[in-house]
Amino acid sequence: MTDLSSASPTITSMIRMDHTHVLCAFHRYRLSSPWWRKRAIVGSVCTALEIHAQLEEEIFYPAVARVAPDNDAVKKSKPEHNEMREMIEKLRSMGPENAAYDGLFMQLMRITIHHVADEETVLLPMAERSLKNELSSLGAAMTRRRMQLLGERPIDVAVHTAGTFPIAAAVLTGLAVFAVSGIFGRSSARRRGRSREYA
Ligand SMILES: [Fe+2]
Ligand SMILES: [Fe+2]
Repeated sequence: MTDLSSASPTITSMIRMDHTHVLCAFHRYRLSSPWWRKRAIVGSVCTALEIHAQLEEEIFYPAVARVAPDNDAVKKSKPEHNEMREMIEKLRSMGPENAAYDGLFMQLMRITIHHVADEETVLLPMAERSLKNELSSLGAAMTRRRMQLLGERPIDVAVHTAGTFPIAAAVLTGLAVFAVSGIFGRSSARRRGRSREYA
């Protein structure tokens, strides 16, 4: 039987993709943006960071800690996530009309970019050197866990993504409608064909 884990993207590729997604959302934030756009971007970044941090803590960091338990970048990763969580909580407790909102979001952006830089220049290369044979199975484990976590907050993710990346959301919705209509179109055509055969 084929081992699906070995066909999965590696965990390090997935982590880089998550980072790119969050950095793109950060880049869409403007001081002059309307309040609803700011709120959508902040919501999207906060949810993405929370899920990403949890996935790293449950799956990636323990694997890296096995091969480099004394590495400084490994040791400070979780406290940095906790610092982000505190800022996320503060942002959620205030609205974009608050004078401190923009500054707090910029602060979150700054510590996230530093954290991502450490991961991309230290932890990911180290994992790629030391965990070569496990990277795909860890990637598969991360995908399974991500599906569970996304399933717990589907509305949250959909609403914020639509407000942050309206074109991408429209394209994805269009593709989903196209795919569904294709499936239903084919099955109703099959049904029509069958009913003609039986007539
Ligand atoms: Fe992290
Ligand atoms: Fe990360």
